[in-house]
Amino acid sequence: MSELLEKARKYEADKIAATDKATKPLFHISAPAGWINDPNGFSFYNGQIHLFYQYYPYLREWGSMHWGHSKTNDMIRWEQLPCAMAPDKEYDRIGCFSGSAIEADGRHVLVYTGVTKIGMQDGSEQERQNQCIVFGDGLNYEKYENNPVVTGDMLPENCSRIDFRDPKIWKEDDTYYLIVGSKDLNDVGQVVLCSSKNLTDWKFETVLASNSTGKVGTMWECPDFFRLGEKRVLICSPQNMKAEKYEFHNGHNSVYFIGDYDKEKHVFTKEDPHTLDYGMDFYAPQTTGLPDGRRVMIAWMKSWDACVVPDSQDWQGMMTLPRELELKDGRIWQKPVREIEKYHANEKRYTNEIINGCTAFDGVKGRTIDMTVELGGEDYTNFTIGVACNDEYETVYTYNRVTGMLEIDRTYCGVTKDVVCVRKIKIADTERKLKLRFIMDRQSVELFINDGQQVATTAICTPAEADGIRFNCDGSAVVDIEKYDIEF
Ligand code: FRU
Repeated sequence: MSELLEKARKYEADKIAATDKATKPLFHISAPAGWINDPNGFSFYNGQIHLFYQYYPYLREWGSMHWGHSKTNDMIRWEQLPCAMAPDKEYDRIGCFSGSAIEADGRHVLVYTGVTKIGMQDGSEQERQNQCIVFGDGLNYEKYENNPVVTGDMLPENCSRIDFRDPKIWKEDDTYYLIVGSKDLNDVGQVVLCSSKNLTDWKFETVLASNSTGKVGTMWECPDFFRLGEKRVLICSPQNMKAEKYEFHNGHNSVYFIGDYDKEKHVFTKEDPHTLDYGMDFYAPQTTGLPDGRRVMIAWMKSWDACVVPDSQDWQGMMTLPRELELKDGRIWQKPVREIEKYHANEKRYTNEIINGCTAFDGVKGRTIDMTVELGGEDYTNFTIGVACNDEYETVYTYNRVTGMLEIDRTYCGVTKDVVCVRKIKIADTERKLKLRFIMDRQSVELFINDGQQVATTAICTPAEADGIRFNCDGSAVVDIEKYDIEF
């Protein structure tokens, strides 16, 4: 084991031992120490589900990237494993950037971007991003001796050698494929496709997709490509993207394209992009296929541009709950993984409650909960649900029945920085009763709208004692509430 990896493992073990678990999310992965960003290597290996992540153990800020590591049997209870990789080679000395994983011949294979610098003729240095491979057993990982295995020099002339990262691997028939985020020399985002028969010798196949309309940001980070129902889906996270009406409000966004794939010719015909998540904290999602056929997605529950973290806290970064994906009516629908239901406790149900004015319900409170509110009636304009509240704090969800808009407002969640706090969402289906499912885990609220037709993920930094939930209506609404604590 390299000195750098040993140092990281020792440091994180001490930090974990010194951190009060009750201050961390219960059923979401969060930074074991310091900082985490993108999910990496989400994969089923040797009977369990593994997740790695971009990781800088030493500070609450992004730094020289390591890979942190967790595993689970059910995607709700996670076991922390020791740091899997440190930037300890010449070819990754600037960082081990994002990537993915696959099981091959009993081994756990990781593919990641090694970032380094090379000397230029004029004496200056320039960054290079190349793809590297790693073999492991689910606990310890060994970088391949002839890394990197895919370099920018294998790409067409007009592709950037600097922005070339985040390989996602899969196997189709007897061939391994990688798609990698890239851009051309005019800053046009794209993903490139490479193939290999043996995981170590790779060749460039084609530019699989690109920002052909010019509207989808610049560099395309963290691509993913998979079959969903009868279609193929390309997910990516374009940097610097402009908002369009009520879509793509996150600056650096995460989007998906649905399309058809000719796997012999490697041609992907894609439709227009869609927003994956309408909240304020969602980036760099990655999916994996499970043996039972589900396609599950997890994302970093933070925005690059916002810091919504208690000032006194020395760690930063959480993952979303893994979500089951389904293709319906030409869109991706997302549901929390069904395993969460195993941890439902203290059921509270209220049916056909008339709400007119401000009210609360006995037992409907908490910060680690799964709560569904269904809203009926036509005798009101605004209906409000305030969560994580007490006299000082509140995060508010307001539905305007007339405009069909839902507004999230976390101004009073405890933030002490000038970050975006309000987001407006156009509800896609206003014909039905509005169904809002809130999954809260201490520092986050994931809202699944109308059975996952839309999702909004938002971080909050509210002290734990603010655990109230209140309802308010400017007319009269008929409401069903079903609420569980999540406990283990
Ligand atoms: C996305 C990203 C990736 C990169 C990683 C570095 O959030 O910028 O493109 O691999 O983070 O930590």
